Amino acid sequence: MARSSAPAIYQIYPRSFQDTTGSGVGDLQGIIRRLDHVAGLGVDAIWLSPIYVSPMVDGGYDVVDHTAIDPRFGTMADFEALIEKAHGLGLHVYLDQVLNHTSDQAPWFQAAIDGDDEKADYYLWRDPRPDGGPPNNWLAQFGLPAWKWNHKRRQYYFHQFLPEQPSLNLRCGSVQNLIAAQMKGWRDLGVDGFRFDVVTAFLWDESLKDNPPATPEVHRKVAGEVFNPYTYQDHVYDMLPGDGATYAENLRKWAGDDAYLFGENTSGNSSIELAMAFTEPGRLDSVYTTDLPENRGNPATVKDMVDRSDSLQRIAGWLSSHDQPRHGRGDASDPVLALQMAFLPGPWIIYQGEEYGLPQPDLAREDVSDPLDLLYWPDGPGREGARVPMPWDAVADGYAFTAGTPWLPMNWDRADLQRAQAQLSPFYRQIVGLRRDLGWGTAKVTECTVIGDLLDLTICATNGYTYRGLFSHGAGDFRDPPTGDPVVTANVLCPNLVSKGWYGTVWKA
Ligand code: GLC
Repeated sequence: MARSSAPAIYQIYPRSFQDTTGSGVGDLQGIIRRLDHVAGLGVDAIWLSPIYVSPMVDGGYDVVDHTAIDPRFGTMADFEALIEKAHGLGLHVYLDQVLNHTSDQAPWFQAAIDGDDEKADYYLWRDPRPDGGPPNNWLAQFGLPAWKWNHKRRQYYFHQFLPEQPSLNLRCGSVQNLIAAQMKGWRDLGVDGFRFDVVTAFLWDESLKDNPPATPEVHRKVAGEVFNPYTYQDHVYDMLPGDGATYAENLRKWAGDDAYLFGENTSGNSSIELAMAFTEPGRLDSVYTTDLPENRGNPATVKDMVDRSDSLQRIAGWLSSHDQPRHGRGDASDPVLALQMAFLPGPWIIYQGEEYGLPQPDLAREDVSDPLDLLYWPDGPGREGARVPMPWDAVADGYAFTAGTPWLPMNWDRADLQRAQAQLSPFYRQIVGLRRDLGWGTAKVTECTVIGDLLDLTICATNGYTYRGLFSHGAGDFRDPPTGDPVVTANVLCPNLVSKGWYGTVWKA
């Protein structure tokens, strides 16, 4: 299948999608079972969060072996069946590639600890300072010190996330060869593209200089909660925009010209500019930043993205994920935001369950295992809430996710769910279809005006027509909306919408 442009991508977090064994954890056969639902939405592709062998300290983003399927998800035969079913339904399959780090249980890292110096070069090991302290002031993105002591090597190793996720030295030739081979292996199995985890964190400055303190402006923008010490630094030496962006040319070379490639930007500071650098010709197709989800897609953020980017085609839009709290409120705002996302040019990532209007659930501390959530508990939105499994059936036991005990408690409101499945889900189908058929995804923004919480967006679509979308985020009516029949309105779903000030309608201009 040819490489998509501006695909609508449905993100599946496999642990929480569909269990077929009664283990309480989702699996590949479960994804196969539910692919008709996904294809029915009209999306172009699925992105699978990691399915590789992992001790799951970081929810699968701590990979032991990138070439093998974790047995809790199934087998390679299941994966091949999944590819076949997806392709049969016209869906592309994009896999997560977690290249920035491995699990500390990975054989390469274990060999390095045991004194294998060739493998040691796969990571960043450094002697202590004369006083025994770490080599510099770098902090890991979750807020812990970025260096962990290993008494066997009597050295520190660098980790940008958890200590269980040692950072890979992606400049090392042997590491590059291994990555190229692993990506080729997945392409040979029929994989159509890749999502690169934390692509903006891949490289560091080899001088290993201390990061300077963040100015108040940078502090506000660095990814992470304001109480996370990581936001107190300006990450000029541990994240390298210039060099880092050209590295994406390797990713393109290894993945192939026909693969759809998108990356995650974990640098809140200069997020859009970095996204542009990573998506120059010969690099990635798109990058997604946290601007939209962190601001629940508000008009000012959309305008800021339009103003700072050359083209929204190079930025994937999204509102929820396995890392960000669900944006659903179960009210009028959900269909308005969905329509705004469908109308916004560029790729669109839909997180599993947002078509069911799922809100962010509360979890008790004893149910939570995510190390980031526990680090700051009960503060911060936390990540595990968004990972509570999919409720497929509002009345069935275990919501038809599992015949066993789900790995996180599921307490979805059954009446709300029933309503959303009857109304919001068909609306997603309608707008994903309009986006594709009218060429909104591949459109260009021609005008973007924001007045407070009102967004007035005009796009020139690839079907040759111009469309105008008006979106009010709780601010009430526009004074002079176009007359005539709209192409689509979010307001029909919730008649009380306008009174609540949420409003979203698209007209042909
Ligand atoms: C990405 C993943 C997140 C993970 C982190 C480290 O941000 O989306 O879940 O914890 O990378 O791999």
